[in-house]
Amino acid sequence: MAEPLVARAKPCLVTLGRKGRSYAWCACGRSATQPFCDGSHKGTGIEPVVFRARADGEEVLLCCCKRTRTPPYCDGSHNALSDSYAEASEDERRATADIPLTPQVGGKALLDGGAFVRTPDTATADEAGGWRILPIVTSADGAGLLSLYRLEAGRKATAPLGFGDGETVLFVAAGHGTVTIADRPFPVAPESGLHVRAGESIRAAADGDPMVLFATVSGSGTEPRPGVGGGAFDGTVPDRVHGVDPALRQAMADRFYQVLVGPETGAREITLFIGEIPRSRAAPHHHLYEETILILSGEGQMWTEGARAAVRPGDVIFLPRKQLHSLECTDPAGMRLAGSFCPAGSPAINY
Ligand code: FES
Repeated sequence: MAEPLVARAKPCLVTLGRKGRSYAWCACGRSATQPFCDGSHKGTGIEPVVFRARADGEEVLLCCCKRTRTPPYCDGSHNALSDSYAEASEDERRATADIPLTPQVGGKALLDGGAFVRTPDTATADEAGGWRILPIVTSADGAGLLSLYRLEAGRKATAPLGFGDGETVLFVAAGHGTVTIADRPFPVAPESGLHVRAGESIRAAADGDPMVLFATVSGSGTEPRPGVGGGAFDGTVPDRVHGVDPALRQAMADRFYQVLVGPETGAREITLFIGEIPRSRAAPHHHLYEETILILSGEGQMWTEGARAAVRPGDVIFLPRKQLHSLECTDPAGMRLAGSFCPAGSPAINY
């Protein structure tokens, strides 16, 4: 059997027709009508993959590198085609060299398409039930699929905090302590991820210094509600805390990520990951998901088509679906970040 050829080192974004309509995806890489079959596979021993649209007008990223393990859909395998992650070209750097740095106004530097960089002002957090709650990304910022809140809890156990019907994923940015999901206590440490099922509430108590949690909630209109408890623990997903584990790191050329919470740990709507990038400027790319990125260490800047803003540890980046962007790390020691996005999937899938 012949080897599949790389038709393109990125997936193709395709809008399919009506639900149930069938398509033949080119698996050999020889078709002139990528990502679909034109019959060029004859004699290669490779057959096209027939698949159907799962919804009317479904938007899909179809693999064009022909290395995906989930044909016909891109699974991010194209990132392993080279030893280094795709970087911005010299032409792209020249074309953007004169773009001025966007200053922050009211703690927010607004970029193209509603993307922004925010430096959270913790002094403005609301206090209720032992919690300090600060909205970071909400529908007021133009988010349509998720919301992000910074939560802080001290030594005294907080009141319950409900999230309505939204699935919630928590990233522990600082502090050790206990987070109780419904009636089930879980010890947590910095850089762990927690999964809270729809309808469950949380309480928290720090062991020492305050515990800082970043809560990503599915649905941009869902606000954390102090004092709202109830909702039994959903025992169908018993493992709720997932820490950093070098054995679970996924390489993406010269960068790494580890999914802390996602479909592989039982989440339905949100993926939470932690990642590291070296000093570099990624080639501009898009995702089909809406995303937040918390900078944990390292400095750099976020680029969109015609704007750029500085990013430092503690800053949060918001990226709408399909927004062209490129994160640059200027720090010789590299950059560490925690990202969350909705709908859930793989952080390696970009186009
Ligand atoms: S284009 Fe082939 S896996 Fe992404």
